[in-house]
Amino acid sequence: MGWMLEKFIWAFLVECTFLSGLSHSHQASKYAFVREATSAPPILSYDYIVIGGGTSGCPLAATLSQGARVLVLERGGSPYTNPERINIKNFVNSLADISPSSFSQPFISTDGVLNARARVLGGGSVLNAGFYSRASSEYIRTSGWNESLAEESYKWVERKVVFEPPMLQWQSAVRDGLLEVGVLPYNDFTYDHLNGTKIGGTIFDNKGNRHTAADLLEYADPKRISVYLHATVQKILFKYNTGKRRPEAYGVIFRDALGVMHRAYLNTNGKNEIILSAGAIGSPQLLMLSGIGPARHLQAHGITVVLDQPWVGQEIADNPMNVLVVPSPLPVELSLVQTVGITKFGSYIETGSGLSLGNSWSERLQNIFEFVSNQSGQPSTFSSENKQSVADFVRYLSNPTLKGGIIVEKITGPRSKGHLELRTTNPNDNPSVTFNYFKDPEDLRICVEGMKTIIAVINSKALSKFRYPNLSVQALIDLMLLIPMNLRPKHVNAAYSLEQYCIDTVLTIWHYHGGCPPRKVVDHNYKVIGVEALRVIDGSTFYRTPGTNPQATVMMLGRYMGEKIINKRFFSGHKSEGIN
Ligand SMILES: Cc1cc2nc3c(=O)[nH]c(=O)nc-3n(C[C@H](O)[C@H](O)[C@H](O)COP(=O)(O)OP(=O)(O)OC[C@H]3O[C@@H](n4cnc5c(N)ncnc54)[C@H](O)[C@@H]3O)c2cc1C
Ligand SMILES: *[C@@H]1O[C@H](CO)[C@@H](O)[C@H](O)[C@H]1NC(C)=O
Ligand SMILES: *[C@@H]1O[C@H](CO)[C@@H](O)[C@H](O)[C@H]1NC(C)=O
Ligand SMILES: *[C@@H]1O[C@H](CO)[C@@H](O)[C@H](O)[C@H]1NC(C)=O
Ligand SMILES: *[C@@H]1O[C@H](CO)[C@@H](O)[C@H](O)[C@H]1NC(C)=O
Repeated sequence: MGWMLEKFIWAFLVECTFLSGLSHSHQASKYAFVREATSAPPILSYDYIVIGGGTSGCPLAATLSQGARVLVLERGGSPYTNPERINIKNFVNSLADISPSSFSQPFISTDGVLNARARVLGGGSVLNAGFYSRASSEYIRTSGWNESLAEESYKWVERKVVFEPPMLQWQSAVRDGLLEVGVLPYNDFTYDHLNGTKIGGTIFDNKGNRHTAADLLEYADPKRISVYLHATVQKILFKYNTGKRRPEAYGVIFRDALGVMHRAYLNTNGKNEIILSAGAIGSPQLLMLSGIGPARHLQAHGITVVLDQPWVGQEIADNPMNVLVVPSPLPVELSLVQTVGITKFGSYIETGSGLSLGNSWSERLQNIFEFVSNQSGQPSTFSSENKQSVADFVRYLSNPTLKGGIIVEKITGPRSKGHLELRTTNPNDNPSVTFNYFKDPEDLRICVEGMKTIIAVINSKALSKFRYPNLSVQALIDLMLLIPMNLRPKHVNAAYSLEQYCIDTVLTIWHYHGGCPPRKVVDHNYKVIGVEALRVIDGSTFYRTPGTNPQATVMMLGRYMGEKIINKRFFSGHKSEGIN
């Protein structure tokens, strides 16, 4: 029956695409150095080649350009063509857009959870919920980072793209609810990762305009950087130098929008490098396509092995997200994440509100409801009382302006790890990804504690004016079980537990990371172990997610490593000229 649901979600996405409006042109307006790959010469040469102009790739390339010639190859288009498209109010539409020019490439992990990969200059920061919060100092130390350089790098990012959020009625109520149920102390507005409840930063300004990692290219030296769009890297090229034991990366092949192949080479100089910043899915995928990965797996796909590296694609992980939707009799503001509860047991509570899902949402929901009933053949799994509540809920959703909010939890870590394998040798295809949500019982325990906290917040005094008195928490739970947001089996019975709720209704918060695990695929300088002139710098190197949400640390890492690399290039202690 899985395929029917998959077809259904597909239809759902197609509908959302219509809502969002199609066809945007592709010219990149903001920077003269950002151009379509179709205008690139057949052969190029640079000091650094950055693969992926995403959340880490942009700050990295901007920093490297202060001291060397840099090429960025990004498979997606420009985020600057239509600012409305990335405004906060189009968060859902943008994510659900499945047109070829979409900034989002959907995939479904083998766990049955719908997920998304960014495909645009600026990467995930063009698609995400905007919340900005640093890693804990413990995470920074464990990663082996220089704390003062990390601090400077965070600030460099914050000066350009981070804002204090407005905190209107819904976000304030959830903050107060968290304090009421004991997620203490209150740390007010801060980027720091501290136990308790706080307000974090956001990359949306007060008009809802999104600022992204692509804006960090404003720091670049325009004379020394070229960024090509719709430039899909096919593989990294290696050569074997006499006298050197290890294969050395020396160039890449990329394909433009018309299907024309180009080659980019490193200028000859012992210091030049290729840097992979293609994200947690893209970086391990491209390593494998280039011959670095588990030898037998590569051979099965007809790929010539450069380095037998069994760890490529391993330890990829995704933090499970579980949610409850809270319909409200009072209007609420449109908001994505602004406040967060950092619990001592390792669950992070976040919230959004007023997300409009379009006028046909209630119809769609009814359809989904019917579809699931039809499919299971047991429409009466739910008590008539709860069915009444759900019917009320659906009627309430007929209101085109959705009133209410969603409270979500993400667990730290996670401890459960998965793996990634190639399905095909086409770099445009999604590889097969398995996350193994809740495989480790500790992850499940944390999820249950988090759900209990969410329920307590929903029942808090602070939220009472946003509650329908006759819509119980149990009805909200039942509702979530009716919405097939994932392809996993539901195990509803009289003794339904929060454990089962976590497992059955798991979604993604899109913080997947790993796949190029530290000390196994990359060393402490992010150099790929076993080859020369190749690093990986992005979320694929994280051993767990940093802070409550990763983007602050992904952008920081791009800047941080750019500084380290360029300073090393001109070693002898002084900084390269022109560093901001
Ligand atoms: C819907 C959503 C909501 C989120 N919400 C938040 C949030 O509120 N706060 C937060 O902190 N984090 C959030 N995140 C997570 C965060 O955005 C990501 O962790 C982060 O952007 C990952 O950065 P990255 O540099 O590792 O990868 P990416 O930003 O994905 O960059 C990889 C880039 O490489 C390009 N690429 C891949 N393969 C190739 C190839 N073969 N050739 C050329 N280019 C290629 C891609 O197009 C992409 O631009 C969210 C993510 C999503 C998707
Ligand atoms: C850490 O970074 C700072 C720059 O922020 C630098 O002055 C210092 O020397 C670095 N420390 C080490 C041990 O490299
Ligand atoms: C936050 O809570 C965790 C878990 O109890 C604890 O290990 C950690 O030390 C706390 N951090 C601070 C700064 O108090
Ligand atoms: C559910 O089943 C009924 C009767 O078989 C059918 O008419 C209806 O279209 C089905 N609904 C969905 C959404 O599949
Ligand atoms: C719940 O309350 C609302 C008004 O607050 C009312 O319109 C609705 O009929 C009630 N539903 C039930 C099932 O009692």
